[in-house]
Amino acid sequence: MERAPATHAPRLSTRVAVGAAVLAALATAACGPRGSATHLVGFSQCNLGEPWRVAMNAEVAARAQDFPDLKIVFADAQQDNAKQVADVENFLRQRIDLLMISPNEAKPLTPVVERAFKAGIPVVVIDRGIEGDSYTTFIGADNYEIGRQAGDHIVEILKGSGAIVEIRGLPGSPPALDRSRGMHDAIAAHPGLQIIHSPVANWLREEAMAQMEMALAAHPHIDVVYAHNDPMAVGAYLAAKAKGREREMKFIGIDALPGLDGGRQAVADGKLDATFVYPTGGREAVELAARILNGEQVPQRVVLKTEKITRAGVSRHAP
Ligand code: FRU
Repeated sequence: MERAPATHAPRLSTRVAVGAAVLAALATAACGPRGSATHLVGFSQCNLGEPWRVAMNAEVAARAQDFPDLKIVFADAQQDNAKQVADVENFLRQRIDLLMISPNEAKPLTPVVERAFKAGIPVVVIDRGIEGDSYTTFIGADNYEIGRQAGDHIVEILKGSGAIVEIRGLPGSPPALDRSRGMHDAIAAHPGLQIIHSPVANWLREEAMAQMEMALAAHPHIDVVYAHNDPMAVGAYLAAKAKGREREMKFIGIDALPGLDGGRQAVADGKLDATFVYPTGGREAVELAARILNGEQVPQRVVLKTEKITRAGVSRHAP
């Protein structure tokens, strides 16, 4: 659905009252959280405990340098829905001009995002969606498609038969559901492929290690571990390695972050068989925010590109 242009005049004017109130408002405008910038943007990040989120924040901060009119304030919800709701409420009290948010889970965050949007504040949702359509634009890669490509890769490497462990992300976050659905659909035509274990590890490496230990104890043979992100795939690999079983199976993840601890390097090192690029969207989110605040119309959904990364395509010394 194309939305009417999200015109958004600076809201400072609404604060201006009479007499002393005018002076107070002007003083706040000059020295308040905006500094000298025209627009105040609140960016609510669901956590900063995962490298992918740290990369997103770094992208946001770097791209924001190119837009001196924007002042971005950051909040870290520490994977806590209630804290993220409070963070957004705090932004609203600071009278932000635009909200950028990567929600922890869809359902608990929907009402506060809806409230902001209905109050006339444009909303840029990044990577994990909310329910309904009370936002200006959503930006992220197509997680169903990534899951499907992961499923196709499993079909290819197992030649249609084998035992799969699926390690799932936080169930209330839409990427976990879409990455699962996509993979299940892709393998559906191959009854020889069996999902023998599908624990939840909430996107976290340590939880995936613990879950994988249980999977290893319960199953004498595993062919593939498909984890919904790279940290969980590497956690599963480490658990298998600790039992001397890492060569028995292949590990597939998602994110493909560059850097020494990233998924690309894990593929280059032979820990992961494949991973899929999941761009953070931080840079593009800032660009969209600037366009919206400039009165431009933006699409309601912006889909970022993904790509399968295997050892053949990544150099030994990955970036
Ligand atoms: C980080 C993360 C990424 C994953 C994304 C899904 O919080 O777990 O690893 O790709 O969230 O929303």
